[in-house]
Amino acid sequence: MTTQPTILVTGATGRVGGSVVARLHAAGVPVRALVRGEADFPEGVRAVRGDLGDPASLGAALEGVDAVFLVWPFLHAEGAADVIDVIGKHARRVVYLSSAGVGDGDGDGDGEPGDAITAFHAELERLIETSGLEWTALRPTGFASNTLGWADELRSTGVVRAPLAELARPLIHEGDIAAVAVQALTADTLLGARPLLTGPDLVTQEQQVALIGEAVGRPLRFEEIAPAEAAERMRAAGYPAELVAAILPAQAAMLDHPEPVNDAVERITGIPARSFGEWAVDHAADFR
Ligand SMILES: NC(=O)c1ccc[n+]([C@@H]2O[C@H](COP(=O)([O-])OP(=O)(O)OC[C@H]3O[C@@H](n4cnc5c(N)ncnc54)[C@H](OP(=O)(O)O)[C@@H]3O)[C@@H](O)[C@H]2O)c1
Repeated sequence: MTTQPTILVTGATGRVGGSVVARLHAAGVPVRALVRGEADFPEGVRAVRGDLGDPASLGAALEGVDAVFLVWPFLHAEGAADVIDVIGKHARRVVYLSSAGVGDGDGDGDGEPGDAITAFHAELERLIETSGLEWTALRPTGFASNTLGWADELRSTGVVRAPLAELARPLIHEGDIAAVAVQALTADTLLGARPLLTGPDLVTQEQQVALIGEAVGRPLRFEEIAPAEAAERMRAAGYPAELVAAILPAQAAMLDHPEPVNDAVERITGIPARSFGEWAVDHAADFR
């Protein structure tokens, strides 16, 4: 009898990692979840403690692991070389959750909007590609689940107050990123690839709120505010200063130069990427 190789999923309590754990488990692949605290997983998924900020803490989680799904939780690449080094001592393959921004030419430190967000992804990709590990770098556009940040406001007021009502993005379902990740972890078809992964169409922020409203069964509305007010609200909500400084100019730039839309999810998984409306239906309970 051959033993199936074990896959370690980091960010396992998060949006994409959680979906990767669920999919691997459902497919009968032995899966281990890296956790920092208590977490619930389906029976059969082994949770092992470890912290990506402390490479020495990762040894137990990596013991006997063949491939790693890596979600980098920091806004800088400090410590990443040591983490990739320790992964390389145990595993054969790493699938990294990067960002579409890397492929834009952002992240190169030349001051383009979005650089602060993507610079660390570019550095992680570089470290992984030169590590000797087998690798895939997934480059998704914005996550549909970012709109969960509107949930409290929508529940209490029925209105989202944010800048750029007309900003249209091909937001992607976390389950579609996870489906591609599973393919990269369990087959050889994406070795050395950096697929750009997008949702199926451009949807404005105003339309996103309306689609969430349809999913929850009550009218919800987007009310546009000035970027300066939005920055103040983000700071008050505790967003890191570098994120506030990067996100709003990056969004304004996307208004003039919308992100591309592609069919990579369907080409890779055989199933079309889900629309924002489908995402909203899947997450309606989070907005009720
Ligand atoms: N949001 C977007 O639009 C977008 C677009 C492209 C790329 N990305 C990238 O996607 C990644 C985030 O993915 P996500 O949204 O699925 O994550 P998420 O839902 O925000 O969850 C973060 C995960 O990281 C874990 N974590 C935090 N600090 C950790 C540490 N020190 N050691 C180990 N694990 C730690 C958390 O575990 P705990 O339960 O222990 O906190 C949690 O499982 C980021 O790298 C981001 O740059 C995001």
